Amino acid sequence: MNNHVEVERITIIAFAHHKGGTGKTTSCLNIAGFLAKSGKSVLVVDVDPQANATSGLGIDPDTLKASMYDLFMGKCPGYQPVKITDIILNSRSGIDIAPSSLELVGAEPFLYTTEGRAKMLAEILLPVRDRYNYILIDTPPSMGQFVINGLVASDHTVITFDRGVFALHGLHTLLTIFSDIKEIIGPKITPDLAILTRWDCEEKDKGGVRGFISRISRKHTPAKAKEEVMIREFEGEVRKYFNLVYPVPYSREIYEAQKAGLPISHFAPDCPAGRAYSGIAEVIQKW
Ligand SMILES: Nc1ncnc2c1ncn2[C@@H]1O[C@H](COP(=O)(O)OP(=O)(O)OP(=O)(O)O)[C@@H](O)[C@H]1O
Ligand SMILES: [Mg+2]
Repeated sequence: MNNHVEVERITIIAFAHHKGGTGKTTSCLNIAGFLAKSGKSVLVVDVDPQANATSGLGIDPDTLKASMYDLFMGKCPGYQPVKITDIILNSRSGIDIAPSSLELVGAEPFLYTTEGRAKMLAEILLPVRDRYNYILIDTPPSMGQFVINGLVASDHTVITFDRGVFALHGLHTLLTIFSDIKEIIGPKITPDLAILTRWDCEEKDKGGVRGFISRISRKHTPAKAKEEVMIREFEGEVRKYFNLVYPVPYSREIYEAQKAGLPISHFAPDCPAGRAYSGIAEVIQKW
């Protein structure tokens, strides 16, 4: 665990989208990697029972003695409280991780019947707020208690989109949920940054971003120019809701880095996706 001297300012960022596979975990880990590489102390908090952020940092979720499950259960009546400092592990890349495992699924029903459930994660993070420059929260593809806890605990929200048009439809659902949360518990939750992941993947069906863009642009341009139009038009749509929109191209190294248990910053920083995430991490450092 990071025992650095107290940090002056902490930034907490949640990565969210209720659709599966939009690049939440990939964005969380790779931005974490570049922040760590630039000398920042970084904690990744995995509140997804799939535990992809945990395994993506080289930690086997099946070998954990304690995890986020114990922390959430410790906030429920009749259970022994657990401190986050007791579960944090240091990963090979220097990023600390509050790990998750499949067990976390079992905690969610308890949360629904516990008062103050939306603020549990914010309370769980209190003891480490002075130890990290950045806490990045990876949330699951749902709109359950873990996502709500992630959004409530964070200062900024990053929404990831893949090329599926459903991801864009999903934005409207997300925004409704944001305003519902705001009404119920008060804090202002606004999406700050959108990442469009794997934007240059070959799209074979008409349902993807290419199909969507061609429908909204109704333009017939040569292939290369068409791709630029596609990105611009998509960005235009997303920019109605977000100030910052960044595309991240497909790079096969992303998957290889995840398999190796390393962020791209520590595996292949100069691949196209690596360069994109490096740029996004620089923007985030200005927040
Ligand atoms: N830029 C990229 N280049 C290549 N592969 C990518 C890229 N971004 C994401 N992927 C791959 O896409 C898949 C889905 O990404 P990821 O797991 O980050 O999505 P997710 O939103 O976290 O999914 P879930 O909703 O299940 O948690 C992963 O296999 C990942 O390796
Ligand atoms: Mg994920």
